[in-house]
Amino acid sequence: MAKLAICGGEPLVKEPLGVSWPIYGEEERQALLEVLDSGKWWFGGWGWDYTHESYWQSKVGQFERAFADFQGAKYGVAVCNGTVAIEAALKAVGVEAGDEVILPAATFIASATAILQVNAIPIFVDIDPRNYTIDPKAVEAAITPRTRAVLPVDVGGMPCDMDALNEIAEKHGIYIVSDCAHSHGSQWKGKGTGAVSHMGTFSFQMGKTLTCGEGGMILTNDDELYEKAFAYHHIGRLPGRGFYEHYLPGTNLRMTEWQAAIGLAQLKRFPEQIQIRERNSNYLIELLKDIEGVEPIYRDLRVTRWCFYYWHFKFIADRWDGVSRDKFLEALSAEGIPCWTGHIEPLYRMPLFTEASFGRTGCPLKCPLYGKEMDYTKLYLPVIERVAKEEACALPHYLFLGPSSDMEKIAEAILKIWKNREELRER
Ligand SMILES: Cc1ncc(COP(=O)(O)O)c(C=O)c1O
Repeated sequence: MAKLAICGGEPLVKEPLGVSWPIYGEEERQALLEVLDSGKWWFGGWGWDYTHESYWQSKVGQFERAFADFQGAKYGVAVCNGTVAIEAALKAVGVEAGDEVILPAATFIASATAILQVNAIPIFVDIDPRNYTIDPKAVEAAITPRTRAVLPVDVGGMPCDMDALNEIAEKHGIYIVSDCAHSHGSQWKGKGTGAVSHMGTFSFQMGKTLTCGEGGMILTNDDELYEKAFAYHHIGRLPGRGFYEHYLPGTNLRMTEWQAAIGLAQLKRFPEQIQIRERNSNYLIELLKDIEGVEPIYRDLRVTRWCFYYWHFKFIADRWDGVSRDKFLEALSAEGIPCWTGHIEPLYRMPLFTEASFGRTGCPLKCPLYGKEMDYTKLYLPVIERVAKEEACALPHYLFLGPSSDMEKIAEAILKIWKNREELRER
């Protein structure tokens, strides 16, 4: 009689664990009606001077201020999604055609496409095997005279080693634009992500831990970078100047009042959700500690708060008597636990990079200002290749918003597979 669900046995979990995401209610409904009835559906409806107090009465203005405060940054610029937030931040730090921007190979495609959109060359580097974030040593080794910025990604919500990265940036005179699309609420040495580098960018797309359906935000503590990001997202207008005065090249990336209204309502729910996730995460770590086949992701002591988007853990391949990580993930899903690898895949293997169909001119990969041609087909970064193939596992954040008994079910399912690994191997 088969024990594992994947082999025909009974699944351990029959009802979905965690919560249905997103969580919303009367607050969100009221917030949307308030915008509707106000007749002001975009932030500009309050006048044209963004330094004026009326700007801060708009939902967008309030959301910018509230989220920047929450993360501990001086400024926020709300935009329509997390991809263009990166683009605006790269523009603000002066990334131009033919520049190189260093990023980790393990991230979602948007980190790389934003670099391409500003005509720069993505330079992929390897990750730290302990927590899958960008390896600062690999960053330093990749710096060339063409490097303008580094785009570290808090993958799964885990802050990167910001001490090392900021030190490298200062030494080489380059910028750090952190992609914090997964790390709302996370803290490095007591300071929120996005506020511990030159600029940080966030996504509020519906799956994220803080969401308004679609949306994004750029954070910075720097007055000049704020003005530049603001101008880029608002077709070249500068804060405090005339509405029909345009100073810099830019586009329209503005967030709507609808998005900001939802963002504000969701932000009120966020602190409690952080606490529940943290409590459940600590409990799961405790429950898994005696199962030899898996290990939680490494957390640096300087990560004073880890608000995860994916709860990464490691499948320790050589302890599983020949069972592969992929088989394990399949078996865990069959037991009723949604799981996958997160964004731990070598991004440079995407057809976008291997086929490199970049239109008539081939720019930016063949940009004459770059002076050479980028070819990603020969790239092989050993850590990401290994962990992507045999180690990385991820559980989604919404699983951690239910009762603590859900953690017991997750641990029980993993233990069940561990104990029946022979059955799984023979399958
Ligand atoms: C690491 C990372 N960066 C950027 C983005 C882009 O965000 P958006 O979907 O809001 O454009 C995402 C989206 O999932 C992401 O995972």
